[in-house]
Amino acid sequence: MRTQVGIVGGGPAGALLSHLLHLQGIESVVLELRGREEVETAVRAGVLEHETAGLLRETGVGERMDREGAIHEGIELRFGGRGHRIDFADLTGRNIVVYGQQEVVKDLYAARLDAGGQITFEAAAVGLQDLDTSQPKIRFRRGAYLDLDAGGVRFSGDTEEEEIVCDFVAGCDGYFGPCRTSIPENVRKEHVRTYPFAWFGILVEGPPSTEELIYNLHERGFTLVSTRSPEIQRLYFQCDPNDEVDNWPDERIWEELQTRLDTDDGWTLERGKIYQKDIVQMRSFICEPLQHGRLFLAGDAAHIVPPTGAKGMNLAVNDVRVLAWGLSEFYSSGRTDLLDTYSEICLRRVWKASRFSWWMTSMLHRFHHEDDFRYGLQPAELDYVTSSRAASTSLAENYVGLPMDPVLGATGTERGQAAPTTS
Ligand code: DHB
Repeated sequence: MRTQVGIVGGGPAGALLSHLLHLQGIESVVLELRGREEVETAVRAGVLEHETAGLLRETGVGERMDREGAIHEGIELRFGGRGHRIDFADLTGRNIVVYGQQEVVKDLYAARLDAGGQITFEAAAVGLQDLDTSQPKIRFRRGAYLDLDAGGVRFSGDTEEEEIVCDFVAGCDGYFGPCRTSIPENVRKEHVRTYPFAWFGILVEGPPSTEELIYNLHERGFTLVSTRSPEIQRLYFQCDPNDEVDNWPDERIWEELQTRLDTDDGWTLERGKIYQKDIVQMRSFICEPLQHGRLFLAGDAAHIVPPTGAKGMNLAVNDVRVLAWGLSEFYSSGRTDLLDTYSEICLRRVWKASRFSWWMTSMLHRFHHEDDFRYGLQPAELDYVTSSRAASTSLAENYVGLPMDPVLGATGTERGQAAPTTS
């Protein structure tokens, strides 16, 4: 098989990259380990930064998002029994769209498959070769599935190894995929921070308790009240990273949430039918550089943020926006200026979003093993953030997304933030 850009991984990064490349007339093949339905129904975060939503609209895949997603113009920070609103619209003139990541992926798959794009599901890359030549290769096998109990990727049947010969490889295969580790250890630097807690997440069929997301600090730990739609609510509460879903019957969850979210004026949490429970681990991770020869990493393959602030998918979107322009420049003029700066441009934003996610996480969680001095500082910081316009603006502009770097073409002219639509 031969293509221009071989994309390993069909999550948001891989699917959007394939779409952006198609709009530039560049051919790609996407390999995705999971089945289509599995990707489309996976539960992930649901906050799109202002410019992420703008890019989806400008590239023709924002129609359902605009119909079904909800624009939020602020969030609530709750601590000491009181809520404080951070007004994004007033402070930044921008907003966010609450729309599930898997919905974005669904829209991208529909657009790619409608346009005759190639996404091979249940196919796993088993090796990358010749990354430092102009013809890198991806070896892969069909019939793949993930069996965590058996230690990872397995294959059903006797499928043979196949090969894709490409001009470039995009590693969009997540933290556990094979692409990142194809960068030799002597040139790869990995920055890691683990946190001493996790998030217990629930999906609830029932009405919302609040119009805007609530980020809450309580002495028992962090809580987040989020939503997916008027009928489906998403809530999280800080838990021990070694905790187990089975330790939390529904009644215990509701009591814990209500205790943490209590306010002086008697706020009550709407209950509903809990239909899914999961535990989300928290970690910061950054790989440097993001490029090696003709391999470019994007999304979770390259960096992980803790979920507080929902930056994960937004970073993936920025990576592939920059990569698509670099590749477009290469194919239109043969120049590699933009591709050569890919890692540097993306990492600037990655470090800033990592700082923001780390800061939100540190301010809003209970570090139970640390001393009282630390816990004393946290409400003080929240008090400052919610009472100073300068500090509120700092939080707001990071939350809605710092302005994306304009991508400059070889001639030095700004080429805009998104690839133009073909229609
Ligand atoms: C969601 C997740 C987040 O990490 C966050 O900061 C806001 C919302 C969510 O899943 O809805």
